[in-house]
Amino acid sequence: MENRISITDLKAKKKRREPIVMMTCYDYPSARLLEDAGVDVLFIGDTLGMVVLGYDSTIPVTMDEMLHHTKAVVRGSSRAHVLADMPFMTYQTSREDALRNAGRLLKEGGAQSVKLEGGVHVAETVRFIVNAGIPVMGHIGLTPQSINQLGGYKVQGKTPAAAARLINDAEALEQAGAYAIVLECVPAQLAATITERLAIPTIGIGAGPDCDGQVQVYHDLLGLFEDFVPRHAKRYAALGPQITEAVRGYANEVRERRFPTEKESFLVGNAVFSEAAKIS
Ligand code: KIV
Repeated sequence: MENRISITDLKAKKKRREPIVMMTCYDYPSARLLEDAGVDVLFIGDTLGMVVLGYDSTIPVTMDEMLHHTKAVVRGSSRAHVLADMPFMTYQTSREDALRNAGRLLKEGGAQSVKLEGGVHVAETVRFIVNAGIPVMGHIGLTPQSINQLGGYKVQGKTPAAAARLINDAEALEQAGAYAIVLECVPAQLAATITERLAIPTIGIGAGPDCDGQVQVYHDLLGLFEDFVPRHAKRYAALGPQITEAVRGYANEVRERRFPTEKESFLVGNAVFSEAAKIS
């Protein structure tokens, strides 16, 4: 039996004022690397659609795609909490659809909890899923599945009315039973206020240093996604250029017949071939 980090462990971290480390993760080898690095929550975000599958937003991501990648992350980890995102239109249509799809991410995908976007308007859906025994993380502020309504990837909660709405959203999610909430691209002071007011952890991305934890996108942090680098992302490595350089080295050696050498080849005695020639 695996002993993974549970939602109780994550909530206890807030009580101990111990920051929660969350990162997006989409496949088996990355899951192994991130778990070795001590990441608490491996999150199969629907950013999968943009950074792995090449869509221009998160809108096209399907349940089948999320399940496929969630299973791989589960296979590559044994200690971290695995959180799976609910794709666009898998929970907005009805509470029943939401529960069925959340259930699939646990039952078929092997995740321990699910995340969905929205505040007051999804609170009843969150309650319905939680009542069925499925832990839910909320997500407010910049909610990329609503990009067409928000009119762009912009910081949210910048006016008094918008900030008050986000505080109400956060409290509604907590009351509905969410075990944590992602705050994406909101002013740092607002994130600090929400964090202070809630008993459950807040996980920030572009929400300043006072959240109970932080989440970053794998490709942003490691310098693997050149198309767009959000201002809130910090690059801890530039693996993209390193990969290109490494592969260029391989391609050159193949073209110049310098790879493979004897070291990478399998050899048998010449007698084997003279024998083979006789019997062929
Ligand atoms: O899908 C995702 O990666 C996310 C994070 C940006 C929080 O929702």
